[in-house]
Amino acid sequence: MSQAISKSYESLLFERRGRVGLVTINRPEKRNALNIKTREEGGALLEELRNDTSVGVVVITGAGEKAFIAGADIAEFAGRTAMMQRDVMTARSLFTAIDTFPKPIIAMINGYCLGGGCELALACDIRIASETASFGQPEINLGIIPGGGGTQRLTRLVGEGKAMEMILTGEIIDAKTALSIGLVNQVVPAEQLEAKTMEIANRIAEKSPIALSLAKEAVKLASRSNLDEGLRREVDLFALCFSTEDKDEGVSAFLEKRKPEFKGR
Ligand code: COA
Repeated sequence: MSQAISKSYESLLFERRGRVGLVTINRPEKRNALNIKTREEGGALLEELRNDTSVGVVVITGAGEKAFIAGADIAEFAGRTAMMQRDVMTARSLFTAIDTFPKPIIAMINGYCLGGGCELALACDIRIASETASFGQPEINLGIIPGGGGTQRLTRLVGEGKAMEMILTGEIIDAKTALSIGLVNQVVPAEQLEAKTMEIANRIAEKSPIALSLAKEAVKLASRSNLDEGLRREVDLFALCFSTEDKDEGVSAFLEKRKPEFKGR
């Protein structure tokens, strides 16, 4: 079902570029810090895009040239109780919504990628960064720790030693260093960031949406289950592909030496 975006959003911009949906966190004057409104709107927008078959891949970026996302909105921390904060991070978690979204999500990282911003990027499936981007989990400087997956997803991605160093020192690393530890997939000159990210997103968006969704689910199992269970479920998900028209189309297209046209069925 293809549909227009029905709601209007205060702190988000949304644009369709072919089959790619571009979501821009739009609070540049606050370095795109994630306040509750932005988190709620992000969750609502993803909910709209979930069943929108005209969008195959989502790209998330930050408005302006300075920041991707400079973290949680620190101003909101003042006066917040432990239970309120827990609710923000669990019941209404934008990070979980991204993680469990059934389509690929790419973080297009154009500047400061700190705290909750780094955690949001970590929840995405692929991270493309500009040479001017910088990364960090500076929560320790506020007397707190990462609470949006930083201690878990960062550790799984870059290993305990590097994650520990970033989280305990709170220090900021540059894009080149982020690439060298595997925190990002690619680093490109700032002026090429959008073109490069869109090129990757468009390439992915041509694939079978069902296969993409099952592939994402299967890969995520690797860090959430033991090897035997992961391998078992991989076979199930693989076998499930054999129930789709897209699998028939993909195989026929290969044998007929033509480009497949996937329908998402
Ligand atoms: N939460 C709330 N407001 C934030 C913010 C955040 N995470 N990050 C930046 N802002 C606000 C600033 O308070 C400032 O607001 P003001 O103009 O009303 O004073 C505005 O954004 C611009 O920030 P500024 O520090 O002047 O910009 P900069 O380009 O010199 O520096 C940062 C950018 C990102 C390095 C710096 O703002 C910073 O260290 N932010 C906090 C990062 C952080 O600790 N994140 C983890 C939170 S758990």
